[in-house]
Amino acid sequence: MTAANRLASVQEYYFSKKLQEVNEMKSRGCDIINLGIGSPDLLPPNEAIDALSNSLLDNNSNGYQSYRGLLELREAMAHFYAAHFSISLDPLTEVLPLMGSKEGIMHISMAFLNPGDHVLIPNPGYPTYESVSRLVEAVPVFYDLDETSDWLPNLDHLAQMDLSKVKLMWINYPHMPSGAKASVKILTDLVAFAQKHNILLVNDNPYSLILNDQPLSLISIPGSRHCCLELNSISKTFNMSGWRVGMVVGDKIMIDHILKVKSNMDSGMFYGLQKGSIVALQSNDQWFDTLNKTYNDRRQLVWQLAEKLGGHFQKDNAGMFVWLKLPEGTQSIEFSERILHDYHIFTTPGDIFGSQGKGYLRLSLCLEAARIKEAIHRIKHKLKHDS
Ligand SMILES: Cc1ncc(COP(=O)(O)O)c(C=O)c1O
Repeated sequence: MTAANRLASVQEYYFSKKLQEVNEMKSRGCDIINLGIGSPDLLPPNEAIDALSNSLLDNNSNGYQSYRGLLELREAMAHFYAAHFSISLDPLTEVLPLMGSKEGIMHISMAFLNPGDHVLIPNPGYPTYESVSRLVEAVPVFYDLDETSDWLPNLDHLAQMDLSKVKLMWINYPHMPSGAKASVKILTDLVAFAQKHNILLVNDNPYSLILNDQPLSLISIPGSRHCCLELNSISKTFNMSGWRVGMVVGDKIMIDHILKVKSNMDSGMFYGLQKGSIVALQSNDQWFDTLNKTYNDRRQLVWQLAEKLGGHFQKDNAGMFVWLKLPEGTQSIEFSERILHDYHIFTTPGDIFGSQGKGYLRLSLCLEAARIKEAIHRIKHKLKHDS
């Protein structure tokens, strides 16, 4: 049976293939230290797990659920936005629960893109923006980000491009993989740019509360409601990536378009997951203080490891990664392979996030301190790089 033509435009996700190789190495007895993946290893809030298990015998807990999610869940999401971003959202119309923010990338693309529409995508950036654009037969147009401009888009360059076919622009702040943070100024400029060129601007914001003192939402920017959407999720914020719970927030009309797609694809989210998520979303400051202290401690260790690997990195970043610039001339794919095979340490080469990621390595903080120490120990001396 031949696959649809659109499949020729995408490749299997890097981690889907690479993890197979890593698992084979493990099955041969290699003790692999995984600094590659951004999947939180810490536990969710206890109360969220209790709420999930206590809900299992509620009426209709095993039946189909509302396409829009429980009102109580949407209220908790609106409360989360009010508490962390000082934004007031109407839970009836301006919040839609999703199965993770990743799902939202597909739904938004299906709801707003026609074949041939152009989509502005950050380079480096999360690979799903490109692959989903291709799957809906839109045209990815990359905009370069780099260290010299703090991984922020250059709007003067963008304005000089032919934007007539651009329908959608993805931004992702705090940025993965670099950890760069946006400012109110750049978000305000981006909203003005989107308004001027009639572009739907979407911020993918799942890292908003990780190692970030000043969480920002695109939706807080005046004028954003009519041309912007934002994705968020409980994956990183509450260590619940496997629960697959996220949200899209924004204007009612746009949310309704997304619901039109989504309600034709799934039949609601499992009740217990919604009940647990409601509780997680209401977590107080103590949750965030403890979580961020753990990540901060781990990050100090990953910085030590990064120093041994060579190159340089910035310290004032958000999110759950250290983004290491390897010494000039070092190929990151080869280097990552070398440390996987020589030291059994799995890292992600920056190339998988786009050509602007060449020469970088992404190191995850989703690993207990003892394992990071073990990685530091395995690399006895600062590594030499051929250039
Ligand atoms: C930039 C970015 N967006 C979205 C996602 C997907 O997250 P979720 O678990 O909310 O679907 C990830 C996951 O790694 C990510 O890095």
